[in-house]
Amino acid sequence: MKKTGIFYGSTTGTTECVASRLAELMHVEKTDLHDVAQSKPSEIAKYDLLLFGSSTWGNGDLQDDWYDFLDGIEALDLNDKTIAIFGCGDQSMSETFCNAVGTIYKRLQKTGARFCGAFEAGDYTFDKSSAFIDGHFIGLLIDDVNEPEKTENRLNHWAKLLQKEFA
Ligand SMILES: Cc1cc2nc3c(=O)[nH]c(=O)nc-3n(C[C@H](O)[C@H](O)[C@H](O)COP(=O)(O)O)c2cc1C
Repeated sequence: MKKTGIFYGSTTGTTECVASRLAELMHVEKTDLHDVAQSKPSEIAKYDLLLFGSSTWGNGDLQDDWYDFLDGIEALDLNDKTIAIFGCGDQSMSETFCNAVGTIYKRLQKTGARFCGAFEAGDYTFDKSSAFIDGHFIGLLIDDVNEPEKTENRLNHWAKLLQKEFA
């Protein structure tokens, strides 16, 4: 059976909550839900579908715990993996909205992994985001700062999308 692992980095707990909710929606066991602050890159080996989540900090930067973890995984051959990326941000930081999602996506291009989970951007208000490529977001973007009422629907929609794309 294909196995799903979720790896997230979170400073104030928002991405952690989103990751936990995704685990429920995707029927992922708690033991397969990992905080990157306490994980080694080699731990991704046993999964077929990897969900990577990061909030964006500073001026479009990765969440702190992602730096070492991403350094480790970008050197791996991930030919046999499918990756979907999610992130939390704030649309009022409209020049760097959820840039961490775009950063992870770009840095993992050379790994040979397949990406899934592109998400419609029409329902968002922002000027720039490195996660916005070819007319859509390359993963799920959550803005729990300004639109917490939309989070549950977005999560449900994305979980269904992933289940379809990764059937
Ligand atoms: C100092 C600071 C800088 C931030 N910079 C960005 C940013 O550049 N882009 C963005 O989309 N969100 C930015 N945010 C918003 C956070 O990403 C957002 O609050 C997120 O939900 C935090 O998630 P976490 O608790 O999982 O770390 C920033 C927040 C703070 C307080």
